[in-house]
Order: sequence, then C-alpha cells, then structure tokens
Amino acid sequence: MATKRIGILTSGGDCPGLNAVIRAVVRSSDKLGWEVVGIKEGFEGLLPPIDHMMLDRQNTAGIMHLGGTMLGTTNRGHFLSKSHPGTGLAPDVIAKARKTMETLHIEGLIVVGGNGSLGTALRLFEAGFPVIGVPKTIDNDLEATAMTFGFDSAVACVADALDRLHTTATSHKRIMVLEVMGRHTGWIALHGGLAGGADVILIPEIPFQLDKIADEVRRRDEMGSRSTMIVVAEGAFPADGRPFRQSFGGREQRLGGIGEFVCYEIGRRTGKESRNCVLGHLQRGGAPTSADRILGTRFGVKAVQLIAEGKFGSMVSYNNNDTEDVPISHAVHRLRTVPVASQIVQSARDVEIIFGD
Ligand code: F6P
Repeated sequence: MATKRIGILTSGGDCPGLNAVIRAVVRSSDKLGWEVVGIKEGFEGLLPPIDHMMLDRQNTAGIMHLGGTMLGTTNRGHFLSKSHPGTGLAPDVIAKARKTMETLHIEGLIVVGGNGSLGTALRLFEAGFPVIGVPKTIDNDLEATAMTFGFDSAVACVADALDRLHTTATSHKRIMVLEVMGRHTGWIALHGGLAGGADVILIPEIPFQLDKIADEVRRRDEMGSRSTMIVVAEGAFPADGRPFRQSFGGREQRLGGIGEFVCYEIGRRTGKESRNCVLGHLQRGGAPTSADRILGTRFGVKAVQLIAEGKFGSMVSYNNNDTEDVPISHAVHRLRTVPVASQIVQSARDVEIIFGD
C-alpha cells in the first residue's frame, strides 16, 4: 500500500526533456513507496471529467529519449491568468481543481512549466495547493535558474540548421538568414549562432541597424567570404522599430517575420542574393540531447525531494552545477534576458560576430 500519492502535469509549450522529468519523478517516488498520478493536457486535466492516468515504472519505461510529453500539454484553456483578468484564476476553476486534488488524494503536485504555467502554479499555491514547480522552456528565459532543459536541444537544432544552410549558402555565394525562437530573449540565437558559426547574430537585447549589417556583408565580400550567415531571434528588432508580430484572423499575435524583413533589406542594400529560413517548431521537437536528459532527470529527482521536505511553493532551480530550490515567485516576475555586457557576448564579438549595433 502506497504511503503517499503525488501528481505531475506538464503545461505550456512542450520541449525536449519533459519525458525525462516524468520518468525521474516516477522512479524516485517509487523508491519512496509513493504513487504518481499524471494529470493530462496541462492544468486542464484537473477539471471535470478529470483527465489522468496512473504512472508507474512500466508505462514510463523507454520514454526518456522521446521529445514532447507523454501527458500532453496546452498553452490555452481555463488556467491562463488572462482568462480571468485582474483576479488571477477564476474561483470556480480553483474550486474544481481543489476537488480533483481531494478526489485523487494528491498530496503534492509537480507543475512542469515555463513562465506562464509557473505563474499559474504560484496562484494555486497561494490558494493553498501543495505545489512544486519545475522550470522548462527552450527559451531559457526564466529568472532564478541558470538553465532550463529543452534549451540545449533547441541550440543543437539551430547549430545543425546552420551547418546545413552554410554549405548551400557558400555554394551560391548567398546571404542566409535563419530565424529562430526565443520569444523576447536572445539565448537560443546567441548560443545557436555561436555553435553554428554565424557571422551576424541579432537578438532583442541589442536592437540592430540594417546599415551596420550591410556594411559587414560588404566587408566579408571584400575579404573573399563566399557567404554570410545571419541568425535572427524572432523577438529581435531594428533600433528604430519594434518586434515583428504575425496576426492570424485578427485573433492571435505571435512573434515572427523579422527574418524575412532582414533578408529582404540586406539583400536590397547589398545587391546580393539572400534567402530566409524559419526554423520554427523543429527547435521544440525530436529527441532531447544528453544534457537535457540529464538535467530533466535531476530536476525530476529534486522535485520529489522537495515534496518529501514539504517545501511547497518552491521551484527546482539549477545554479553552480547543482539543483537547488527557490520560491516560485522569484522565477516568474520578469524574464531573464541576455546581459549585453556579458562575457559570452564579448566572446562572440571577439570571434568577429557582429550584433548590428
Ligand atoms: O516559449 C517557447 C516557444 O517555442 C517560443 O520560443 C515561441 O515564441 C513560442 O513558444 C511558440 O509558441 P506556439 O507553440 O504556441 O506557437
């Protein structure tokens, strides 16, 4: 007979490494004699008719190397704070979720999510839910943790894309632009661009000037370079402009389109052939890298430890090569952006990468 039952859900955009967390939570709970309930489709599974499944060693075996999440996820639904403006979550939503926790006998709920989902987790904790947060996002933009799993896999995808684009760009003597994800931060562009040997990296933290980029293309031409590789974060924008958004039926606005703009403008200014590639959700899919499998595993183990210690309202974090815990509130109030004066930005400049500033 299990001594305790805990729950886990994955919420927000998926990312490689989520299944490693689930597997680790089940294994370390099993060691303590605890049962684990998986809540499906993010927080939505907490609402009637209650979408859940019991997780055990058997049904979580062989999942670590799989991208996505076996529990499903959503970044829509009843638990978005904006679904009930001003007051956080709707009282009836909280009441129904509380009833589910009681019905399923869940004594601790692990919420694996990014900024928005951890904000929801915080609200549930403030409403008395025994919640532990696990940070995830390919964007790596959460405060209070030096690293989130999913990021390394996204960076590997960008580097691979650059390797592929480089050979075709060089063959044709072209400018190649690669638009990558990252929302309002440039971590993926910066790390992916460094790993893939980009010549220009454009990030939201450093608004760019098109003329500076065009000058660099000309300088490289004069040096005999056969291509210029430009990585642009989806949230990057020109010094005299704003982030680019795409509207769909007037209902939704997503970041995107800056790559096409840069491609056209730099082509026009230099008279060179240019092409744009939007990497999109390829960055979120596929197998997690070894680093993300390890980080996800360590985060899952730590989350179970935090439940054992009764440290509800805290989030697993990663600092100085160790897992730690911090209050969830420390992670969600602002984005962790790329420090413009950081060593990594300077290192990029020292290998002749330009940021267009
Ligand atoms: O936050 C992760 C992320 O992949 C961002 O980099 C990107 O802007 C966004 O999610 C895309 O969201 P969706 O999957 O809803 O299109």
